[in-house]
Amino acid sequence: MISPATIQQIQHRIDIIDVVGSFVKLKKRGTNYLGLCPFHNEKTPSFTVSPNKEIFKCFGCGKSGNTISFLMEHEKYSYVEALRWLANRYNIEVEETEVSAEVREQQQLADSLYILNQFAQKYFSSTLFESDEGQAVALSYLEQRGFASPILEKFQVGYCREERNAFVTEALGKQYNRDLLLKSGLAALRNEELVDNYRVRIIFPIHNTTVKVMGFGAPIINKNDRAPKYINTPENEIYIKSRILYGMYFARQVIDKHDECLLVEGYTDVISLHQAGIENVVASGGTSLTTEQIRLVRKYTNNLTIVYDGDAAGVKAALRGLDMALEEGLHVKLVLIPDKEDPDSYVNKVGADAFRAFVAENKKDFILFQLEVALHDAGNDSQQKAAAVNQIAETLSRINKAEDFTRQQDYIRQCAALLKIEEAGLNNLVNKFIRERIGKMEAKWDPAAEGLPPTGDPEQVPASDEGLQLLLKDELQERAAVRVLIEYGAMEWEEGKKVASYLLDELDDDMISNPDLQRVLHVYRHWRQAGIDPGARNFFYHEDQSLSAVVVSLLEFPYELSAKWKDKFQMAVATREDVYRQDVRNTIAYLKLRKIKKMVEENQADLLREHSPEEQTTLLQTHQALKQMERELLKEYGTVIVR
Ligand code: CTP
Ligand code: MN
Repeated sequence: MISPATIQQIQHRIDIIDVVGSFVKLKKRGTNYLGLCPFHNEKTPSFTVSPNKEIFKCFGCGKSGNTISFLMEHEKYSYVEALRWLANRYNIEVEETEVSAEVREQQQLADSLYILNQFAQKYFSSTLFESDEGQAVALSYLEQRGFASPILEKFQVGYCREERNAFVTEALGKQYNRDLLLKSGLAALRNEELVDNYRVRIIFPIHNTTVKVMGFGAPIINKNDRAPKYINTPENEIYIKSRILYGMYFARQVIDKHDECLLVEGYTDVISLHQAGIENVVASGGTSLTTEQIRLVRKYTNNLTIVYDGDAAGVKAALRGLDMALEEGLHVKLVLIPDKEDPDSYVNKVGADAFRAFVAENKKDFILFQLEVALHDAGNDSQQKAAAVNQIAETLSRINKAEDFTRQQDYIRQCAALLKIEEAGLNNLVNKFIRERIGKMEAKWDPAAEGLPPTGDPEQVPASDEGLQLLLKDELQERAAVRVLIEYGAMEWEEGKKVASYLLDELDDDMISNPDLQRVLHVYRHWRQAGIDPGARNFFYHEDQSLSAVVVSLLEFPYELSAKWKDKFQMAVATREDVYRQDVRNTIAYLKLRKIKKMVEENQADLLREHSPEEQTTLLQTHQALKQMERELLKEYGTVIVR
């Protein structure tokens, strides 16, 4: 675990504009910064970052957070990885403290796997280039397929010899243990004995974007029916297939430059195209695209061109990822390579220039292609044709209408023409799907998106439920109280007394009923006891990032208006900071009044039920006492109106 001292150092150095700005282009707008939201597709910026509060919020999709949660969300880092990334960026030396045995074991396992893989990669590469067997069996085969040494070296290709356990013996000699060898997939167990898993196979190392080897793909050299064509690394701590696009490390800068990513099926396709100088290309490994892979592409470009062989089953698989790609705002094109060739063989046959020209001239729109395939499959079957119409309308409904209205309308026109149906009819159908989805989204209405903490399972409670509304309204006062504590806790209340100690005295535990807010209070008190005056930032760096999210949701974005007014009319506009004592007083008053009001209501409800005369008297006395408290409060705090 990273030590608190290191975390504090990071906390002091951090600059949310610098961090978020290295992933999102930001422009200054008043006190805030504005950019295109990286979490959803939009054309007009609604992603706002406040350098003062160190938080971001997208007013389009509702996502909000701090620097850590930005890195966790955007880069898919864990909490610790995000901290390490920051430490690295600001040249802060990371001091470790004791971690749980379990976490340490995981980290060590991952580290060991990387080290073993690197060792294996070097071993297999030298076997390919330097051993007689490697040259005779593998290098000659690869050269005959058109791969020259420089490109093989660049991709660190290797060969695993035929001998039962040549690699395993070498690795055990270097003190790599049996369990690790098995976990890495480099070794397999045969009759209780460890043997090389990739014998007589080419070895393609698979790199992450910092060029560490996560795993391997190992195709057979001499095809035969008994052995599988490929053996791949099994899923383990570092090899997670759904996140991998083969070749991304070597392709990413070129993808960025060309603003286009070519997607092929195979490792050999990637390497051949790179050799031909077409370097903006990665491979999916023939499976349908996952959201994680799509996000990886979207970091560099919005234009994805799928280049597959014409009759590949892979095309169907790739089609399955399409709806997701659309929602992520990718523009997907498809090129089918003719004559039973694949990109690898085709580029070798026709050369780089002709390949580029072919791709440019034969790019088909993926949506229209999908429709053509469906129509072709349907033939004269009107039921199947109707299914195709529904399918395409559903697909089109996923193009975010507000963002991309013309694009959607273009599609509707072209699809209607292909289907030989009326444009208006298809338009209606698309709209129906949009309405349905919005309906579903509303049913799943999530209070967190409104900046409110979750209140139980939202699917159980329709948005119109009055009870829920009341609950939320009640919570507003609780939220406000915890907000002022976090915002102004360290400021002075009276001489020698901080706002925090005033508030913590006033806030009884039973005044806060929301469990998330209770947790924040609990941690706050804990910190105070340890001699820390916590602010929002302390929560941002808390290991429990759900706690941090609660605090982010409490903070409000500084008002744009005040800054503008200041400039425009050169007058002093009172900010909340200026009047914080009043803010604190009002907030506590509201909360107490709210609680008393609630007690009055409960007491009154109780009065309506059957009671003995004594009970009745007690209830009436309670009522009067409560009313008296309410009056006193009102007098003490001035005229406040309970919202
Ligand atoms: N693949 C796999 N396991 C298989 C078959 C294929 O993992 N049993 C993945 C590999 O990533 C492979 C890709 O799917 O690169 C495409 O498969 P294919 O075209 O059959 O292999 P290539 O690598 O193109 O090999 P070759 O050109 O020799 O056919
Ligand atoms: Mn192939």
